Amino acid sequence: MKNRMFAITLALVCLLGSHSLAAENKLVIHADRAKDQINRNIYGHFSEHLGRCIYEGYWVGKGSKIPNTRGIRNDVVAALKKSKIPVLRWPGGCFADEYHWMDGIGPAKKRPSMINTHWGGVTENNHFGTHEFMDLCEQLGCEPYICGNVGSGTVQEMQQWVEYITSNAISPMTDLRKKNGRAKPWKLTYFGVGNENWGCGGNMTAEFYADQYKRYATYVHNLSGNKIFKIACGPNNVDYHWTEVLMREAGKRMNGLALHFYCGSGKKSRSATQFDEGDWFHLLKRALFMEELVTRHSAIMDQFDPQKKVALCVDEWGAWHAVEPGTNPGFLYQQNSLRDALVAGVTLNIFNQHCDRVKVGNIAQTVNVLQAMILTDKEKMLLTPTYHVFEMFAVHQNAILLPSELQCGDYAMGGDKIPALNVSASRDLSGKIHVTLCNLNPNQPAALACELAGAKAKNISGRVLTATEITDHNTFDKPENIKPAEFTAFKVTDAGFSTTLPAKSVVVLEVQ
Ligand code: AHR
Repeated sequence: MKNRMFAITLALVCLLGSHSLAAENKLVIHADRAKDQINRNIYGHFSEHLGRCIYEGYWVGKGSKIPNTRGIRNDVVAALKKSKIPVLRWPGGCFADEYHWMDGIGPAKKRPSMINTHWGGVTENNHFGTHEFMDLCEQLGCEPYICGNVGSGTVQEMQQWVEYITSNAISPMTDLRKKNGRAKPWKLTYFGVGNENWGCGGNMTAEFYADQYKRYATYVHNLSGNKIFKIACGPNNVDYHWTEVLMREAGKRMNGLALHFYCGSGKKSRSATQFDEGDWFHLLKRALFMEELVTRHSAIMDQFDPQKKVALCVDEWGAWHAVEPGTNPGFLYQQNSLRDALVAGVTLNIFNQHCDRVKVGNIAQTVNVLQAMILTDKEKMLLTPTYHVFEMFAVHQNAILLPSELQCGDYAMGGDKIPALNVSASRDLSGKIHVTLCNLNPNQPAALACELAGAKAKNISGRVLTATEITDHNTFDKPENIKPAEFTAFKVTDAGFSTTLPAKSVVVLEVQ
């Protein structure tokens, strides 16, 4: 009944569309000023040995009743392929700086176990290691991004890991890889030299880490034709000093600098699904802070690298809520609501807008941890609202950004305000224009007039993600409570098009 009422309301908004609301919101899309390509790896993911992300999330083991390919669950792989996952970062996170890769190769039964001190103190049996990760990437058709151990690992260990994965030469590491069942080297695209070395990765100062980075990175070699994109540990949030030191001391020796930003939650004690409008507003305001972070870190990078050769890689981001009641606090298992979909929508729009500098993004984390795409419960799997946003936004992957100017009203709440709308636009290789729009206001639809400079709209189609309540989410009983629907509240105008965005929605329009 609730869903029927919601469908009728949505249809009414669509029918009345732009006739019922004055278009106080104006968007100009400069199709005549296309310049920078949106690197598809902005749409990447991060998966750590944390809680039920790797084990249960991907890895069920070869003997499992859950359908799998060489131990990796088929349903999760199929869903991520559908959303066009481009790159996957692994094995951590904080786990990376305690991970010794040689423990994760060879016959599974002989692999030593370790304590996962960061995440619940559970025993890690190392059954998912380098071969399994590279197999996962091959099954997903995505690029691997491995994060090495600077905090507690040696230079030699890092050097040998890269050699083991990528070398085709006659060498002890190549022999070892062959002995473990992989004749050909893999292609390794991205390599991170440590993770959060200002914190769990060794509590280093920026100056100390810059020296460490140079030392470790020297031995991350390009072997047998493989070219590695080296990523240095970057700042936490607003640590602009870290960015300045790293760019000054080591900017010429890196391809990318990481940035981590979690936008938090509502009031601290709230769960991911029990929150009020104040929490909704607070979280979206925090998510929008990504704009300032990217702008300010990029401005510092510009001083040392005006040609933008070094990428800003936002390789951990997302909403971090209280864990679901009754679950292990160290496992960071949280539900995912419409609010998280809006967090994803605005963040991806911001990355698109800054695609001249932001070339990699990895949401934390893909399955069963933090702002997940997918939740699993034994053989069951559900797609979260965040998954649907990634799938809807995939049209931007490798498209050319179309600069846009948005004038919009505010969404005001408790004496504070944020822009109600958020947008980005691109043109893909076939010439189609895609516009992704978020209406952050949970109470008001928004009429929007769009001018397309340098292009003419003929046909438009659209999809929308919204729900009745701000807290709505998918459960294992109702896995399709929130999913994208067809969107028709638009019309072609002389200047471009007009549309009415439902309250609390994410919309993608395809303009031909
Ligand atoms: O994603 C969870 C943790 O958050 C990662 O392990 C760490 O890098 C960050 O602090």
